[in-house]
Amino acid sequence: MKQIITSLLKEAIKKNGVSLRNEEIEKFIEIPPSPELGDYSFPCFFLIEKFKQEPSRIALDIRRKITKVPEGFQDIQTSGAYINFFVNRKDLSKQIIQEILSKKEKYGSFSQEKNKVMIEFSQPNTHKAFHVGHIRGTTIGESLARIFEFCGNEVIRANYQGDSGMHVAKWIWCYKKYHKKQKLKEDESWIASIYVDAIKRLSKNEKLQEQVDLINKMLAERSDKELDSLWKKSRKLSLDSFEKIYRELNTHFDVYFFESEMEKRGLDMAEKLLKDEIAKISEGAVIIDLKKYNLGVWVLLRKDQTVLYSAKDLALVKEKFEKFKINRNVYVIGSAQSMHMAQLFKTLELMNFPKVKECKYVPFSEVRLPTGKMSSRTGENILYSDFIKEITDYSKKEIKKRFPSISKKELESRSLKISIASIKYSMLKQNPNKVIIFKKEDALNFEGDSGAYILYTYARAGSILEKANKKLKEKFDTGKLEEKEIELIKKLSQFKDVVSNAYKTMNPNVLANYSYQLCQIFNEFYHSCPVIDSEKEQFRLSLVTALRQVLKNSVYLLGISTVEEM
Ligand code: ARG
Repeated sequence: MKQIITSLLKEAIKKNGVSLRNEEIEKFIEIPPSPELGDYSFPCFFLIEKFKQEPSRIALDIRRKITKVPEGFQDIQTSGAYINFFVNRKDLSKQIIQEILSKKEKYGSFSQEKNKVMIEFSQPNTHKAFHVGHIRGTTIGESLARIFEFCGNEVIRANYQGDSGMHVAKWIWCYKKYHKKQKLKEDESWIASIYVDAIKRLSKNEKLQEQVDLINKMLAERSDKELDSLWKKSRKLSLDSFEKIYRELNTHFDVYFFESEMEKRGLDMAEKLLKDEIAKISEGAVIIDLKKYNLGVWVLLRKDQTVLYSAKDLALVKEKFEKFKINRNVYVIGSAQSMHMAQLFKTLELMNFPKVKECKYVPFSEVRLPTGKMSSRTGENILYSDFIKEITDYSKKEIKKRFPSISKKELESRSLKISIASIKYSMLKQNPNKVIIFKKEDALNFEGDSGAYILYTYARAGSILEKANKKLKEKFDTGKLEEKEIELIKKLSQFKDVVSNAYKTMNPNVLANYSYQLCQIFNEFYHSCPVIDSEKEQFRLSLVTALRQVLKNSVYLLGISTVEEM
């Protein structure tokens, strides 16, 4: 709809001698607060300067140049500074429902965009915890990947794990020295606990760091067989434990990059930058002075020539573009690294790296918990496994209240699905740059703005169809449309615009909010319009089927799978 209105307006404005781009028009189209003002409305205030006229005059002038009310619309009127568009409800309803039912899981998708996009997300470090912050990043990344695909792009999901460096040396040191009797385990919380123990011991006795440094150096040089083999084994267990998490979170990766692979290349990069006089030597270290740009000093190599995170990231960008021939490179990384990312992008600019404009950073803020409510074996960070356990235990209780005789197996699988959906939803409904205070009672509130509520609504709509147990006829008569029916249909028709907005702004939260509003409107509709055995049964069954499809598509883009029963 918005697209039709945009092109209509564009032409009419042009006939008045003013040229505007589609985006400049589309962003002003709004949905009026009450139906008397139409279904869409276009305020003309922003055109005052260009038209040099009163806004109400502008509205009239534009309206006059629209010679034909296009199909799907009933009327176009002006009201003061606004041009209001009234859609033809009966036509629109039929058209939208039929489109949804025929396009099914493709409804709302488009294929104009044909980029090859790499989306890098999750990026936990081996030998350390996978914590709630990683869940947020993984959730945003997976959702963006799906949105990009839905809009026609080819997406490469990439992970970039820190499998080498000081944190690994600390782990190896601590395990060898204090935990050797314990068998190595593929268990992220056990692995993380060794790391936490290392930190504790090192903070108590600074001298011990010398031993760690030695191990770090030996690991970097690959000079000790025993250390190397311990590194390989523990690294693999750590990586495998992450894969278990990814399966639970319903995500996967097409490419894995590792920091250990970027060391040599990072070193070469640093040398090249020195030669090009972009970097320089300062107290033995290789640095780039970015103070001019208010970005401080970026250190590439330590004075012992060990390669830092910065230099590795420079090597990584090059690898991404050269090896994978991508034309967009998206990073989903916590906002704690926004300085690092700004330094990276600035350096790429100084290097005249041709693809710098194609690199995009999607920062996201932290996840906190109401204090004292969740146990953690590792101090500050809440581990994935502890978190999931706490949430699933809670959701089991909630499910049991509703289904006291549910089987144990069913309870396990349903509680996990509901928990994951609820966690993901609460991570996505917020703007990425807002801190989240995660409250499990809210996340799993079947009646509130939650993933559980959305899944519940989907299942409820399914049970209506099941009860009716009728085949949908292709033709139906909408009869006289009721207010709640119109509202629901209008909301369904907005899905495409929401997808395109989420895509353009790289912000899944608009889709999360949309899913919730859709459920609310559906529940209102269902409350006031009986479906089964009503006069309009065929039409309403089609409407419920359409709602289920759009809701499913919408939450799919959030990385959430629906369930048939709650
Ligand atoms: N592994 C890193 C960390 O835990 C995040 C990696 C982000 N990606 C990047 N290209 N720098 O801090």
